[in-house]
Amino acid sequence: MPNKKISIGLFGFGCVGQGLYDVLNESQGLQASIEKICVRDKSKKRRLDAGRFTYDKKDILNRKDLDVVVELISDTDAAFEIVSTAMKNGVNVVSASKEMLAKNFAELFKLQQQHKVSLIYEGSVGGSIPILRNLEEYYDNELLQNVRAILNGTCNYIVTRMELEGKDYGEILKDAQANGFAEADPWLDVSGCDAKYKILLISVHAFGILLKPDQILNLGIQNIRYEDILYAKEKNLRIKLISRSEKIGDKYRVFVMPHFIDKSTELFNVMYEYNAVEVEGAFSCKQTFTGKGAGSHPTGSAVLSDISALTYNYRYGYKKLKKFMNGNGIIPDATKSLDIDFNIKVYVRFSNKSEIEKLEIVSIEEEYKSAKNNYIIATVNFKSLFHFCGNKDSKVFICAI
Ligand code: HSE
Repeated sequence: MPNKKISIGLFGFGCVGQGLYDVLNESQGLQASIEKICVRDKSKKRRLDAGRFTYDKKDILNRKDLDVVVELISDTDAAFEIVSTAMKNGVNVVSASKEMLAKNFAELFKLQQQHKVSLIYEGSVGGSIPILRNLEEYYDNELLQNVRAILNGTCNYIVTRMELEGKDYGEILKDAQANGFAEADPWLDVSGCDAKYKILLISVHAFGILLKPDQILNLGIQNIRYEDILYAKEKNLRIKLISRSEKIGDKYRVFVMPHFIDKSTELFNVMYEYNAVEVEGAFSCKQTFTGKGAGSHPTGSAVLSDISALTYNYRYGYKKLKKFMNGNGIIPDATKSLDIDFNIKVYVRFSNKSEIEKLEIVSIEEEYKSAKNNYIIATVNFKSLFHFCGNKDSKVFICAI
């Protein structure tokens, strides 16, 4: 559809939807108009005329004159329904729903091939950072070794302000919600789930491996306390929630957990809601992409860039994924390629020994006990960390060293 005015059907007019509306209004280059916006909540006051909205998804999905469906809603099941229906109708889709994409990737990949439509989702990972298309295209012939990234703006905003202002975790989380960084359910942010969905998508485009979300360890910052930040500060370190996807021989290690990091990495200086993706290749060495990872306008601008990419018929080539498919159209199960059997050095803070009895400790390097808290620096079996993954009752804080 080059040079033609693009007609958009938009689902969702929350933080990102409104951001898209604003950046589209400011955009000089792209001729595009939002024809209809489908929203769920009839009682909510909107900043646009009521005539711009509908509450019935069919008012968009049944239209034949739309070029693109843009899906920016937080209900994962409803998002999948919308995206898959649009694709079956032969319409190109732009989505920023990382959870929906990560949970339904194989099916969405199939629909793209079957219906010869494009589904692009740059806004789902790293906010404004153009990373997926870069991994897909630019690093095609590069011997990529690993990706280490800060992928959740809310968590980075929380640890930054805890460190700089000594403020309480809960208070800062409220600010992150007020600023439109956090998910509708902020547990997704602080538990590392959101970052896990994003590193899953990165792994597809970086290495061509597709994992299921529950195969990827996510330890979050939900139990972090100021004393953990102080421990880091004393050693000139910072705590960051890091997502890693690494190739080691013919195996991959993919996981999300807090890390102590030092000044030697550019990730050290990534603060507030900024995200960063450090890509390491055999020949290019380390390259770091940074930018705002959350918020209305940064994410809206990534979505706009996807809409613009559709004007030159862009679609992900999935070259690396297809290399593993042996031409049979089926994405292979990556379980065999996943390495979860290794040892990792961690800081563990807990109040009672019974809280960490499931942790397989290989050796303890340092141990500290006080009336309120205990911590150990230990080498543990990585697999045993899964006992703490997504556990809402656990108060243990675990951080890689
Ligand atoms: N809640 C997400 C974050 C929004 O804080 O990074 C952007 O994906």
